[in-house]
Amino acid sequence: MMDKKLVPLISQIELAQTVKKLAERLDRDYVDRQPVLVCVLKGSFIFMADLVRQMQTPIRAIEFMRLSSYGSATVSSGQANVLLGLSEKVIVDQHVILVEDIVDTGVSTTQAIEILKSYQPASLKACVLLDKPERRRVDVTIDYLGITIPDRFIVGYGLDADEQYRQLPAIYGLDED
Ligand code: IMP
Ligand code: MG
Repeated sequence: MMDKKLVPLISQIELAQTVKKLAERLDRDYVDRQPVLVCVLKGSFIFMADLVRQMQTPIRAIEFMRLSSYGSATVSSGQANVLLGLSEKVIVDQHVILVEDIVDTGVSTTQAIEILKSYQPASLKACVLLDKPERRRVDVTIDYLGITIPDRFIVGYGLDADEQYRQLPAIYGLDED
């Protein structure tokens, strides 16, 4: 970690504005439905916490699922593994919103979507804070998108490099010094 440099990329203010806009869009679209929000751990935990606090529409349930694709590498292996599931009964017949920190190769979001679909929700949408389209390997429909970013490894606001930096309130590029 010591030989890495943090380069400011997305400020706390920009993140807050982005999250607020996403919450407003969700409020409009879910005005007469109580959605179930599913947070993909671990990277999305801060985004999820900020998003739900900006939403006015009543939320039926907040659920968590855990996938893993990175280990300690800074380049995605492109393979995701389900580590912690959620039960079918909280998803079936519900209006589900998948909450993701970032779509990079698209592998893990696709896997999360497949799992959720297999539990037969009434509807399923993906709400994603950051999109890194240059590295996409699998097509993903992002229904609610915050910010598109270039291909660069980033940390902060829940995102980590080998479990470090998740606590940073803004987003930084992680450069070799
Ligand atoms: P995927 O490559 O789209 O499957 O991305 C899988 C997961 O890798 C994301 O949900 C993030 O948690 C993590 N990830 C992708 N890009 C970055 C990054 O730049 N920094 C930190 N984590 C990332
Ligand atoms: Mg994620």
